[in-house]
Amino acid sequence: MCGIIGYIGNNVEQKLLKGLEKLEYRGYDSAGLCVLRHGNFYVEKSKGSVEKLREKTCVKSEFGLGIAHTRWATHGKITIENAHPHFSSKGEVALVHNGIIENFEELKSALEEKGVYFYGETDSEVAAKLLSGRLSLKKIQNLVKKIKGTYAFAIISKKNNSIYFAKNKSPLYVAIGKDCSMIASDPSCFVGACDSFYPVDDGEYGKLDLKKVVFIDKHDKVVLKKSKKLDIDYFVDGKNGYEHFMLKEIYESKNVLGNIIQNYSSPLYKKLLEKVTEIDFNRVYFVGCGTAYHAGLIGQRYFMNNIKKDVFCERASEFSYQNRILDQKSLCVFISQSGETIDTIASLDYAKRCGAKIVSITNVSYSTIACKADINLPIFAGPEIAVASTKAFVGQCAVLFLLSKVLSGQNYIDDLVSLKEDLDFGDDEKLKRFAKKLASEDKVLFIGRGFDYITSLEASLKLKEISYINSIVEPSGELKHGPIALVEEGTILVVLATESELFIKTINNAYETKSRGAKLCLVTNQIVTETIQKEFDYVFKVKNTTSELMPVQTIVLLQKLAYYVAVTKKTNPDKPRNLAKSVTVE
Ligand code: M6R
Repeated sequence: MCGIIGYIGNNVEQKLLKGLEKLEYRGYDSAGLCVLRHGNFYVEKSKGSVEKLREKTCVKSEFGLGIAHTRWATHGKITIENAHPHFSSKGEVALVHNGIIENFEELKSALEEKGVYFYGETDSEVAAKLLSGRLSLKKIQNLVKKIKGTYAFAIISKKNNSIYFAKNKSPLYVAIGKDCSMIASDPSCFVGACDSFYPVDDGEYGKLDLKKVVFIDKHDKVVLKKSKKLDIDYFVDGKNGYEHFMLKEIYESKNVLGNIIQNYSSPLYKKLLEKVTEIDFNRVYFVGCGTAYHAGLIGQRYFMNNIKKDVFCERASEFSYQNRILDQKSLCVFISQSGETIDTIASLDYAKRCGAKIVSITNVSYSTIACKADINLPIFAGPEIAVASTKAFVGQCAVLFLLSKVLSGQNYIDDLVSLKEDLDFGDDEKLKRFAKKLASEDKVLFIGRGFDYITSLEASLKLKEISYINSIVEPSGELKHGPIALVEEGTILVVLATESELFIKTINNAYETKSRGAKLCLVTNQIVTETIQKEFDYVFKVKNTTSELMPVQTIVLLQKLAYYVAVTKKTNPDKPRNLAKSVTVE
């Protein structure tokens, strides 16, 4: 988490602020910038959004060099002191950092013993305090040798006209434009200024000047790199008339399905899917975090339905701590929208060390996970800006569906075509009415069986992350084994029941809560009889599609429900409290 940017060129403050706005998805606890002009630093910091920093910043349309940062707090409270950039003891070196310095306490104590004063509580300040005076590649080399942990640094000094940098396990990219040079956590910052970019690799450090960059690898050798073309179309941004990115992105699910159908019908991507069939494996692990983990659970069901192998699904944050069979005969599928989630990267590295074959399903083709995988299957969702993942989940499920079908030798595209045509986002007025009711609740229970249980997990995550309602999920059949004790007069129970064989069982489980005072909401594609209609306070009918794709059909409606609850509660669905889009700390 945290976003960093550095810029050398005209309109430096404006460019830094614009870059920070693009990076704000990485954290929005505080923001700050430092610009070097005529040998002096101009510094501004603010708590909260980049907009607040913009209000304070004196924007000059002059040439200059600067660094900036948007923070997701890890060490130390959300204060101006802890906001980046951080400074050396004499204030002549400024540094921005994304990552965690694991040995910061040890380094800090040693510095304090020497009389160094710390104004804040962050691990990052320690790195700044290890620097002084005129910067050089040697000093950066010494710095990274002392530091253990993850970092992307951009560093400037009053005594140099360069931006120095270093990277380990936190994303960092460099770009050279016609009349500027840039460094950032995400290449989206380069749009409009540069046509290509260089990914900085782990262990590398270097120096950026106007239109020139030097990369040094972990063996202290100069590296010559090939630049990658910046895919401008990918970075088209803006809310397109929607009030929030989240709503826009929910509706973009249809395009995502369209992109997947189109691309995976082409020889190039068909071949990529077929490459997976050439892998010799007897067991499969799906690994991801949050929404990507839920997509993995869906993938697990697809594989269990279509392939006769052992299939597991695990959270990336737990994956490397379990003893299990993981070897050359294991296929590991890592799912990540950003491709930068650190727990997922760590699990991928672990699986690689064990000899497993690695497939990734990502939305960012230049991301760390996509680059580390043996085969990367893109989801073609375009940038997902809202913190709550929506269209990416749809893309992940669709690609997993394709993969399971290809592996079992079945024709796969037609089902997705029908899903795309029938994708139903629900009746807005009805959703808003139910959202109003939910917005006044402290807790809500979701139940479902089979695929519906997994869809409930995802729907509940959406609701809790953007509306802060305590949302609990249980498989329908588990209620009686404990959770039903939570039901009291007026408790809202959202019942997902889209599988015909399981429908009546789930409806009966709902009735058991109704007789204990619950208010019931049903989401189904099945026939709703008059009796059922009478028992349920809210009924949402969703269109039918092939049963394996019902989670996609159902989730878009429930994503919208969560969105309307957040809007009713006046919480910002795009930037929920305490969260960041890209989770790059363990
Ligand atoms: O970029 P990733 O897909 O690896 O991110 C994984 C999770 O952090 C992410 O899905 C998170 O749970 C979302 N906020 C959910 O909406």
